[in-house]
Amino acid sequence: MSGVPIYPSVDHTAHRTLVTGGAGFVGSHLVEHLLAQGDEVIVLDDLSTGSARNLAGAADNPRLQMIHGSILNTKTVGQAMESCDRVFHLAAAVGVKLIVEQPLRGLRINIHGTENVLTAAIERQASVLLVSTSEVYGKNTADRLREDSDRILGDPLLSRWTYAGAKGIDEAFAKAYCDQEGLDVAIVRLFNTVGPRQTGRYGMVFPNLVGQALRGHPLTVFGDGHQTRCFSAVEDVVPAMVRIERDPRARGQAYNLGGAREISILDLAHEIIRTLDSRSEIELIPYDQAYAPGFEDMRRRVPDNTKANDLVGYEPQTSLTTTILRVAADLLARERLASDAMPLAGSFRGVL
Ligand SMILES: NC(=O)c1ccc[n+]([C@@H]2O[C@H](COP(=O)([O-])OP(=O)(O)OC[C@H]3O[C@@H](n4cnc5c(N)ncnc54)[C@H](O)[C@@H]3O)[C@@H](O)[C@H]2O)c1
Repeated sequence: MSGVPIYPSVDHTAHRTLVTGGAGFVGSHLVEHLLAQGDEVIVLDDLSTGSARNLAGAADNPRLQMIHGSILNTKTVGQAMESCDRVFHLAAAVGVKLIVEQPLRGLRINIHGTENVLTAAIERQASVLLVSTSEVYGKNTADRLREDSDRILGDPLLSRWTYAGAKGIDEAFAKAYCDQEGLDVAIVRLFNTVGPRQTGRYGMVFPNLVGQALRGHPLTVFGDGHQTRCFSAVEDVVPAMVRIERDPRARGQAYNLGGAREISILDLAHEIIRTLDSRSEIELIPYDQAYAPGFEDMRRRVPDNTKANDLVGYEPQTSLTTTILRVAADLLARERLASDAMPLAGSFRGVL
């Protein structure tokens, strides 16, 4: 069994679909899913955090076209969208580390780039699925975050909040274009989506901890480790994104797509060590050492997935153990960690 999920093909009207950010982690899984459903797919990606290697499995598919370019270039966006009837907009500056280090770049891509995509879609009468984030809820630690829950954001002068700020503006743009100019748009808010091909380079906790466990290095957990998240598997999230995009009732609406199980980062680190039979230990790193002085993290982020469940039957199925094993197999295969990896446990050998 390989670490790459296989998506079943379903009865479906074929589209000509633009996927911005299609060479990224979530985007590449989405592209494979759309190709399996018979779509012609155009990927627009500047390969800043994504990689052509993520689409290597589909590279020979004659229904896939790859455009290397930026959503900041209106001409490129217009050309990429030529004769497309729908757009999945995923291109964005992502990752806390990248955002904290380069806030201006992030603001430009995440606000101006998104508006370019939305206006091009109106001109071509294409529908849009805007991919947003649970970060928009900020520091709201409610037991279950509903789509209409309040946003609680920190000081706008802290670069840490610019990602949440920009994605919130994106959603507001989408809604305003829908209400005032007739754009057919739906929004999904992803909550810590994880799986094969996600890179740890820009501060993503899941692949970082799995990589450290494979190498036998200490697992670096920021803060006290008691902050919690609900990780969702990319193979659960991607089909739900496509079903939401297709559903006319989703027009002008936002949907949470998150995991079912709340887990602290400390417990996640322990679970990764156990699952991979790693000898690694856990090291707590203060936030101001990990990022910058004054860095604020969300203590808790728990989605209420009811709205997506009611609309398209979204229900997370994949266990955390399965995801840990898939991510580990992918890291070993892609980054050639095998040479210095820990001896593999029986259960882990099975996924390679
Ligand atoms: N993975 C998650 O947990 C998560 C959570 C919430 C929201 N999201 C959203 O999902 C989307 C995909 O994120 P991901 O996790 O796959 O990250 P990713 O970095 O793998 O994907 C982003 C892609 O956008 C491309 N890109 C960046 N700037 C661009 C530009 N100016 N022009 C064209 N392409 C550009 C990158 O090269 C990359 O391929 C993003 O919009 C992100 O905000 C992801």
